Amino acid sequence: MLRGRLYDGGLTTLLARLQAAVADDYSVACEIGRGGMATVYLGDDLKLERRVAIKLLHPQLATGLGVERFLREIKTAAGLTHPHIVPLFDSGESGGLLFYVMPYIEGETLRGLLTREGSLPIEDAVRIACEVLEALGYAHAHGVVHRDIKPENIIFSAGRALVTDFGIARAVTAASLEPLTIDGAVGTPAYMSPEQVSQSLQLDGRSDIYSLGCTLYEMLTGSVPFTGPTAQAVMARQLLDVVPPIRSVRPAVPHALEQAVLTALSISARASPKRSSTPSPICPACASPRVRRRSRSAGRASISPRSARSSKSGRCWWGACAGRATGCESAPSS
Ligand SMILES: Nc1ncnc2c1ncn2[C@@H]1O[C@H](COP(=O)(O)OP(=O)(O)O)[C@@H](O)[C@H]1O
Ligand SMILES: [Mg+2]
Repeated sequence: MLRGRLYDGGLTTLLARLQAAVADDYSVACEIGRGGMATVYLGDDLKLERRVAIKLLHPQLATGLGVERFLREIKTAAGLTHPHIVPLFDSGESGGLLFYVMPYIEGETLRGLLTREGSLPIEDAVRIACEVLEALGYAHAHGVVHRDIKPENIIFSAGRALVTDFGIARAVTAASLEPLTIDGAVGTPAYMSPEQVSQSLQLDGRSDIYSLGCTLYEMLTGSVPFTGPTAQAVMARQLLDVVPPIRSVRPAVPHALEQAVLTALSISARASPKRSSTPSPICPACASPRVRRRSRSAGRASISPRSARSSKSGRCWWGACAGRATGCESAPSS
């Protein structure tokens, strides 16, 4: 049974337009979510008889984009195949609407989980970060930078973290007919890297590592490193401020883990080969029973549907980001 909500008259009109635009290929049931760039609808692929999520770019955004360029750019993302990446099935333009189609993921987003739980058990936070890092390592090796890593774009399916919206931010930026202003910049201020804030043209995978650092920081402490009254204030802090220590909020976080998160959040990609984007180095601390014991003793019941052991425990976020510099090999201390 399709589930979701129908909205008021104005939005139903948009739904009706989408229904008409894709009627040959998809049925569209209802809105299931909305973000800064798009509205997401639940639908069915009529030919393949599978449930899909159809993401419709906000019409006011779509009118500022070169359609062909957008659809060409988005194809890069369609080539990504990885167990921690939500694939792209289809994309198109019809009746003045720009949309793309992906599998419908039934699980909740990391945002939903954080809203419910505040912070997460350390081992769950690390496992989720490791899974996202695997997806990033793969995408970066294929020349795709996500540019909008944040809890809303991490969805759980059968206990695994899946990254969604790969390539979308890049496609919107590249297809934009006007240079994007700070206000119109693609990305989410609380997770934007300093080089993204300063609108560097040459973003590379290290920018995603910074955003993942913000996400892991939030999973561990319940709050992003930098908040502020306006988007501009948050972005200014990303450029200028010192990251508040994690262990003053949560002493159970191992020192090595804190150091690795701080390395991921180092102000400058220039300073960082340290902010590496590949997940290859192995960190024994990830699988350390001591870390697992510690996180259990941190007093939270695990909400992970999947045990830490079933993750690729050698593939460690902080090993990747900080390597030997953090002294990862040594047992963490609280
Ligand atoms: N493939 C999907 N399957 C199920 N729900 C989705 C899917 N993609 C997005 N959503 C839901 O739609 C919401 C809005 O998505 P989006 O437009 O990408 O904005 P944002 O990422 O900023 O939340 C998400 O937060 C999520 O709840
Ligand atoms: Mg999204």
